[in-house]
Amino acid sequence: MGPISPALPQLPRRAIGIDVGGTGIKGGIVNLQKGSLTGKRFRIPTPRPATPQAVAGVIGEILDELLSREKAPAAEDLTVGVTVPGIVIDNVVLSAANIDESWLDCDTTQLLNNLPGHISTLNDADAAGLAEARYGAGANKPGTILTVTLGTGVGSALVHDGVLVPNSELGHLEFEGEKPAERKVSASARERLDMPWDEYGETLRRFLAHVERIQPVSKFIIGGGISKRSEDFLPFVSGLRAEVVPAQLTNNAGIVGAALYAAERATLKTPKVHET
Ligand code: BGC
Repeated sequence: MGPISPALPQLPRRAIGIDVGGTGIKGGIVNLQKGSLTGKRFRIPTPRPATPQAVAGVIGEILDELLSREKAPAAEDLTVGVTVPGIVIDNVVLSAANIDESWLDCDTTQLLNNLPGHISTLNDADAAGLAEARYGAGANKPGTILTVTLGTGVGSALVHDGVLVPNSELGHLEFEGEKPAERKVSASARERLDMPWDEYGETLRRFLAHVERIQPVSKFIIGGGISKRSEDFLPFVSGLRAEVVPAQLTNNAGIVGAALYAAERATLKTPKVHET
């Protein structure tokens, strides 16, 4: 477990996380003490087009399945975290670079208001980075940790002493004349440009050096599906001030981080009063 959150001692034992991706929507029951899934994750392909209404329907189906399980969280302290690959402020989606544009300005509190539990929505990379910082490659490490997720786009999550500063969106920086940087640095850019691994590693190294000039950190965690192949490109990411390590929770980081975020938000809003 990473640095302590003020809400941690009061968190429910379990919460639900749902990770909305481009090809699949995945949910799971998360054990918040361990940062791992209780039981299997449940996945439904992302509907096409992936409009807010269609995705909300799938989220409802996933919740039904998870709540039918014996180890489902109790209804009275059910918290659910949902990820979206865009900027999210106060549960409202404010960008839609890699998702259906009908998500722009979508208020997810209204969209999901017929579903049970306290629901919070957050950026997908923020969820993954929060989970990594607290339970994965950043666990027990204070300081500033930046997780960079490499997939269709490039996401980023800035966590300081275990606390997330949401929506850093560093994949949208301008980088070597390219705007946004994700056009050159994402895993899909590597495929599109047919980049050999050494060249990809070099490109990532220059991108992280660029990021380091703006936001010095103690550690970079490299996430996204491509981090499974980190031995192919991380050896070329050298000479940076910060340490660079691969993510540990890969597949489930989004689910775990979403559940943790939602549980902490709900707990901080309605703290339990301790008896003296
Ligand atoms: C979006 C981010 C998202 C990232 C990874 C970017 O294009 O702007 O919000 O976190 O892709 O999905």
